[in-house]
Amino acid sequence: MALVAVIPCQFGSEEIIDISRYVTPPNQNICEFSLSVSDNHTAHGIGTHLMLDLIAHAKENDLQEMRRYVLSKNLKMLHLVSDLGFQISNLDDDPDFKTVSLSL
Ligand SMILES: CC(C)(COP(=O)(O)OP(=O)(O)OC[C@H]1O[C@@H](n2cnc3c(N)ncnc32)[C@H](O)[C@@H]1OP(=O)(O)O)[C@@H](O)C(=O)NCCC(=O)NCCS
Repeated sequence: MALVAVIPCQFGSEEIIDISRYVTPPNQNICEFSLSVSDNHTAHGIGTHLMLDLIAHAKENDLQEMRRYVLSKNLKMLHLVSDLGFQISNLDDDPDFKTVSLSL
């Protein structure tokens, strides 16, 4: 599943400013997600909005968990997913990354 946010540009074209997506391993009801917002459009709630849409689609598709690794220093992303109810866990063997997961 991939969702994009677009804004209109000159001459009728559109610019993609945000992509969120998830992938599911075969025969499993979990998914790994990603989120990326264009630098010029951060801090306007766009990432949160697309994550909420992505979560809704995952629920509609009967998935039970979303998760991914996030760099420990990526405080923006950790804050965003924490606000959305994700659990954040340390990795025993790698302090540079955390696991974030949401039961759906
Ligand atoms: C991390 C990332 C996805 C955040 O996206 P974003 O669109 O800036 O996220 P939001 O705007 O929803 O939230 C960011 C902040 O803006 C605030 N915000 C939300 N709506 C707002 C609005 N209308 N006006 C002003 N600020 C707003 C949020 O409260 C939040 O603040 P907080 O961190 O103090 O809680 C983005 O910075 C990014 O793409 N980073 C690079 C890629 C990356 O790290 N991806 C994560 C790993 S997959």
